[in-house]
Amino acid sequence: MTDAPRGVPAPLLLHEMAFSLGVTAALVAAVELKVPDALGDRPAGAAELADRVGADPESLEQLLRALAARGVFQAREDGRYAHTPASRLLREDAPGSRRTMVLLAGAPFAWQIWSRLTDAVRTGTGVCEDLYGTDLFTHLEKNDPELGALFDRAMSRSGEATMRPVVEALDLPRAATVADVGGGHGTLLSMLLDRHPGVRGVLFDLPRVVEGADERLVRGDLSGRCRVVGGDCRRAVPVEADVYVLKNVVHMWDDATAAGVLRTLVRAAPAGARIVLVEQVLDATATPGSATVMDLLMLASQGGRERTAAGFARLLARAGLPAPRITPAGPAAFLVETAVPGAGVSAAAPG
Ligand SMILES: C[S@@+](CC[C@H](N)C(=O)[O-])C[C@H]1O[C@@H](n2cnc3c(N)ncnc32)[C@H](O)[C@@H]1O
Repeated sequence: MTDAPRGVPAPLLLHEMAFSLGVTAALVAAVELKVPDALGDRPAGAAELADRVGADPESLEQLLRALAARGVFQAREDGRYAHTPASRLLREDAPGSRRTMVLLAGAPFAWQIWSRLTDAVRTGTGVCEDLYGTDLFTHLEKNDPELGALFDRAMSRSGEATMRPVVEALDLPRAATVADVGGGHGTLLSMLLDRHPGVRGVLFDLPRVVEGADERLVRGDLSGRCRVVGGDCRRAVPVEADVYVLKNVVHMWDDATAAGVLRTLVRAAPAGARIVLVEQVLDATATPGSATVMDLLMLASQGGRERTAAGFARLLARAGLPAPRITPAGPAAFLVETAVPGAGVSAAAPG
């Protein structure tokens, strides 16, 4: 009975897992009430915090207790609560704040999608067509722009922490043009342009999304080195670049769709251009718990998947691309890098 992780007896392990949706709900309640923002550097009791956020004191105590049991807030012996690194990251003003990611992860549409996971596993396809009559991103654009805006904000804000190691790991030639395909509002691209003053950039994403692109790229100090292009990468990527970055993009789709996107990209790309997928690698990750849950979310939402190293090689081969070189970029991402074959380019991934 004790071969479960951390020696937790199997019945307790299952109990904890089965009710873990309550943890998502608790995080959402805390950020919706802005409890992390109401707690400063000085510890505070539940009654005081309840007064600040407009909540019922005893109920807020229950909420804080549940979160503190998981390392979000610290329950002190004097009965007051203090911040932990995790609860601080839920503040609106925290660098790399996870606030919007929590709101997205626990938004009603996410519960709807999760509630249909069995169907997705049975059929191998995502449930958004069934739920909304269209794919997720068309739904965000046509039916629920508010949710679309939350999605975009969550990507650009909470990606910052995972983007820093990517920026450090990605080697760019001095005068290269780098295109971020599915780059959202351009947080990663801005960070790349900041780090490489000779590099030019292209931000490519759906028209609805690039409308909200980072002001620095559109009108600000980086605009002279950056172009912003709206489009659908399943149809065309009208962008010529030396390096194409796709971060957390191909995991949204099954192999047929993802290979189609890559073939479309290759049609526009010059021979020798590098293609860098920034993704989880299931058999190499240090965080298999969250990677495998994300794998299921991708499946349920759009029939997508996280991939193993062999899975990436298969995907790239299907798109006519050489096997990748895979390098870690921080604790939760890898650079999966290949190159567009052509004159003077070896079939090997760039070295
Ligand atoms: C999971 S998000 C990743 C965003 C960003 N690369 C990051 O890592 O934070 C996927 C991105 O792909 C974009 N996207 C989805 N379908 C697309 C399409 N057909 N064409 C272009 N971009 C698309 C979304 O708008 C979104 O910005």
